[in-house]
Amino acid sequence: MRDGSRQSPGKPVSYIGIAILYNARSEFLRSSKMTDKYAVIGNPIAHSKSPQIHKMFRDQTGQDISYEAILAPLDGFAATIERLRKEGYKGCNVTVPFKFEAFKLAAELSERAEISKAVNTLKFEDNVIKADNTDGAGLVHDVQRNLKYELQGQDVLLLGAGGAAWGVSFSLLGSGANIYIFNRTPERAQELSHGLQVFLKRDLYVRKGLKYGIPNFVNNFAELGDKQFDLIINATSAGLTDSKLPLPPTIFAPGALAYDMMYGRVTPFMKFAREHGAAVVSDGLGMLVEQAAESFFIWRGVRPETAPVIEALRKFQ
Ligand code: ATR
Repeated sequence: MRDGSRQSPGKPVSYIGIAILYNARSEFLRSSKMTDKYAVIGNPIAHSKSPQIHKMFRDQTGQDISYEAILAPLDGFAATIERLRKEGYKGCNVTVPFKFEAFKLAAELSERAEISKAVNTLKFEDNVIKADNTDGAGLVHDVQRNLKYELQGQDVLLLGAGGAAWGVSFSLLGSGANIYIFNRTPERAQELSHGLQVFLKRDLYVRKGLKYGIPNFVNNFAELGDKQFDLIINATSAGLTDSKLPLPPTIFAPGALAYDMMYGRVTPFMKFAREHGAAVVSDGLGMLVEQAAESFFIWRGVRPETAPVIEALRKFQ
């Protein structure tokens, strides 16, 4: 028998052959299953904690991704995005000073990106640049889930009317908070409040049944009278220069949360809050991790656990 005569002396050879084929197949599968590449782009970027955070998410979820920090030249954001797309990256985070440019570059915007006029998350899919802004969700998740403060129906004082404030205000309204926007330059606070009102009215049909909060504009603190707030959020960049904000000392209601969106330092706002009765004073580290988790979810469809990541980062702060 031809088959028999081949099989008998050839048995070991066949096993070797199968083993070789099996190894070749495994190698092929390994190399064809490419690690999905992501990055954060900014200028400067060396300080960014995002690579650390996303690597912790990767290890925790088992998602096969890489994540690196990329410095783009100030006049080279669009070119950097183009390069990443050509190299097969699946998406990226965008940080200062490119969030507005990313907004303009995107072909598809989420609602929260549209209202923020700035984006921090890009997803490259079907040859299209899709954009979102996860900062607001990051803040809301940190306040509600981690710090356990209710937002629905609450009056929240939002300090600042720059990019950071635009980025979070819509999500605060979406969680049911009424926001009072106060800014050094009142015209900017008015513009933000007006922009939110127009947006909420425009999409009233879509929002039917949803309890959105109301945006209010505060011209000066005299207008607030002796009103107190359970939640005061500092979205100004005053902490960067250690500048004090002109706040009345009675502004914190008993049990109030004072939240600074900055992290890595105790700002004059946080010091002021501690000295004038805020029950809880928080920096923005939790928000940083939560906005990253939201980006990770947009890219991977998997929601990582944030508490252990926040804890790990706090240890190294
Ligand atoms: P970002 O993107 O960080 O929000 P931005 O758009 O330049 O940066 O906005 C900075 C915000 O911080 C603004 O609301 C700014 O107030 P003005 O609109 O009056 O400039 C606020 N800000 C910065 N330094 C401040 C300070 N020393 N006191 C009060 N507000 C300050």
